[in-house]
Amino acid sequence: MSHPLEVPAEKIPAPGQRTLLRWNDRNLLLFNVAGQLHAIDDSCPHQGASLFGGRLEGHTLQCSAHGLRFDLATGYLLNSTRVCVTRFPVETLEGRVFIIVAKEPKE
Ligand code: FES
Repeated sequence: MSHPLEVPAEKIPAPGQRTLLRWNDRNLLLFNVAGQLHAIDDSCPHQGASLFGGRLEGHTLQCSAHGLRFDLATGYLLNSTRVCVTRFPVETLEGRVFIIVAKEPKE
């Protein structure tokens, strides 16, 4: 079941910027690439390093741990369709920004 997580206005990144958000026990990253927002899990699919400090060139984010590069538009490792970072849809409504996350099932 999906759930809209509203991004506080002060956390919405300007073009070229990124922000770190906390949701449940996870860290989410929100990037603004030339006005396009991309939300991903802050965990590299290789060995789980934080992607927050990764180098960004266009839509390409490079993990600072071992250098793997991911396309933020798809989440996939460059030149691969097998390994990808977890992406979340982003919706905007009247200036408000929402990351659509999956609601964790209750135990
Ligand atoms: S943990 Fe990201 S490339 Fe290894």
